[in-house]
Amino acid sequence: MNMLKIMSIFGTRPEAIKMAPVIKAIEAKVNMQSVVVVTGQHREMLQQVLQLFKITPDYDLDIMEKNQSLAKITSKVILGLDDILDQEKPDLILVHGDTTTTMAAGLSAFYHQVPIGHVEAGLRTWNKYSPYPEEMNRMITDDLADLYFAPTKLSQNNLLQEGHHAEQIFVTGNTVIDALQYTVHADYHHGVLDDIPADHKIILLTMHRRENQGQPMRNVFTAIKAVALENAAIDVVYPVHLSPNVQQVAHEVFDGIANIHLIEPLEVTDFHNLAARSYFIMTDSGGVQEEAPSLNKPVLVLRDTTERPEGVDAGTLELVGTETAKVKQAMVSLLTDNAKYQRVANAKNPYGDGHTSERIINICQEYFEKQ
Ligand code: UD1
Ligand code: UDP
Repeated sequence: MNMLKIMSIFGTRPEAIKMAPVIKAIEAKVNMQSVVVVTGQHREMLQQVLQLFKITPDYDLDIMEKNQSLAKITSKVILGLDDILDQEKPDLILVHGDTTTTMAAGLSAFYHQVPIGHVEAGLRTWNKYSPYPEEMNRMITDDLADLYFAPTKLSQNNLLQEGHHAEQIFVTGNTVIDALQYTVHADYHHGVLDDIPADHKIILLTMHRRENQGQPMRNVFTAIKAVALENAAIDVVYPVHLSPNVQQVAHEVFDGIANIHLIEPLEVTDFHNLAARSYFIMTDSGGVQEEAPSLNKPVLVLRDTTERPEGVDAGTLELVGTETAKVKQAMVSLLTDNAKYQRVANAKNPYGDGHTSERIINICQEYFEKQ
């Protein structure tokens, strides 16, 4: 078989974390050439991941601007990829998940009639505004794709229900579990831990989604502030997303509270190890919902819907939404009800065995062998 040129296109932190092991799997194949294109939808938060996994992009569209709009991201990605796809003529492009980079890269590849593999295909809430714009991004990407790498049977069923062809859909697990194998270490230490007594319970917080910005975020932060003020023996660690909309509310509500630590976004090794050291996690992140079951950490999901119901069924995730009273009650319950905590913490990981990337790349190879 001829050399296969596989172009991976991504632009944000979570895509980079989950595509890094896939790129490593392409590099390990003698009959494949890896071309990496980053859109730069994220700048600093993407660089952290590229450095960790030692990935040097072949192209960087460098599109990020402060408080960027969805329309600008979309148009810059499509225009930026036009010449690159023309010149490189890849055999296949791989995109990941549900960001605006994902959707726009899929559309560009379609315009160039290049086959598309969608990693983490088939996640759905069935509500087009939740999460926004991710639900629509992933639906559009799945309409454009030729190969679907569904993390679970449930995501496979979602795709079948939409009429996608069974022979193009593969249940592979989630590459996030592959990524965790690069990062978690038993002897980990981070500077933020120096300020936290060893017997304190650490609550790790992340929150950034567009639909939560403004009042929902303020409601959640108010609950966390109240619980932190009532419990001197807990410490909340919050690596604050660089979005100005998030930074502003976080500092407004949390500044000056001794046991709430606002820090820069963490390098992914630090984040995974702090998650492993935490008592529980509060998040509206997608990726963190998948990582926590592997680390045996309960998660309070700060959203009303999730496209990751496998984690809710397994018992790790509790959907608590963004109302102050409900968030507070869920925190207090996990802090005080030890039997509940143990049940949740020992739930099973539904996202695979850590070999998802290899599996995906073997499927890509077979796809071309059959042509
Ligand atoms: C994006 C994705 C979201 C994903 C999230 C992961 C879309 C529409 N949203 O949301 O699905 O969950 O990434 O984090 O694709 N910024 C920086 N430096 C960075 C990154 C961001 O300064 O390294 C700031 C910029 O001002 C930027 C803003 O954050 O304009 C928002 O970034 P954007 O990618 O538009 O949205 P996210 O909320 O990060
Ligand atoms: N993460 C990280 N540093 C942080 C916070 C999160 O490396 O300070 C990682 C986390 O482990 C997960 C991914 O970023 O793998 C999730 O990204 P994010 O929450 O930004 O996006 P989402 O998954 O919601 O799309």
